[in-house]
Amino acid sequence: MRKKIVAGNWKMNTLKDDALKLASEVVNMAKDETPSDVTVIMGVPFIHLSGVKSLVGNASNVFVAAQNCYFEPKGAFTGEISAPMLKSFGVDYVILGHSERREYFKETHEELAKKVDAVLANGMAPIFCVGEVLSEREAGKQKEVVSKQLEESLYHLSAEDFKKVVIAYEPVWAIGTGKTASSDQAQEMHKDIRDMLASKYGQEVADEISILYGGSAKPTNAPELFANADVDGGLIGGASLASRDFIDITKSY
Ligand code: G3P
Repeated sequence: MRKKIVAGNWKMNTLKDDALKLASEVVNMAKDETPSDVTVIMGVPFIHLSGVKSLVGNASNVFVAAQNCYFEPKGAFTGEISAPMLKSFGVDYVILGHSERREYFKETHEELAKKVDAVLANGMAPIFCVGEVLSEREAGKQKEVVSKQLEESLYHLSAEDFKKVVIAYEPVWAIGTGKTASSDQAQEMHKDIRDMLASKYGQEVADEISILYGGSAKPTNAPELFANADVDGGLIGGASLASRDFIDITKSY
């Protein structure tokens, strides 16, 4: 049975005290309110990982994600953070390939494939982001774009390793815009993604992969989104910065 996952992506937000307050609220509220079969993840800036991990403690259904990592294990890469460093802080997941990193930091498919390998080699799970921009959606090219993103950065993996990957479909035109993909659009794309995965790895493996939706997901629209057969949860930006909203989303199944 594939996991139900609600992951927050705090992006470049929260100062130290805000981060610890938010994380503490999420941990306490998840313990009391979130269904036990839902995995809650906080994707926090590097600088907060240690403090947030300490607050998570031994909570059974709350985990910590980084929002990126470099693919080399160590060395002269000033300013970068390696996968072994993240693992040494008890990080469980790493968000990779987010559209903002592809856009602003020009991350390539090849670079992302190496980051996926580094994350898996260090016992963490990638949350791998795919999705099309508005012009690609308007041209009806979303399947082609997502298929290439999957193929170029993930399809080198064995089936055993691939099963550890979480996929996040984020229509770029819905990120931070308040314009959410419709429930039908989300289900159509998630089914297409699952079919792509089945073509590559077989239906049994494809059915084990959690595919999350990201793009203006809120407590008001999450129930309809999560009711879809191939939507296994969400990758939540803005709404993850408010503990009440984020936890309400974890209750949306
Ligand atoms: O990674 C999730 C993020 O891109 C979605 O952002 O603010 O539209 O929920 P938001």
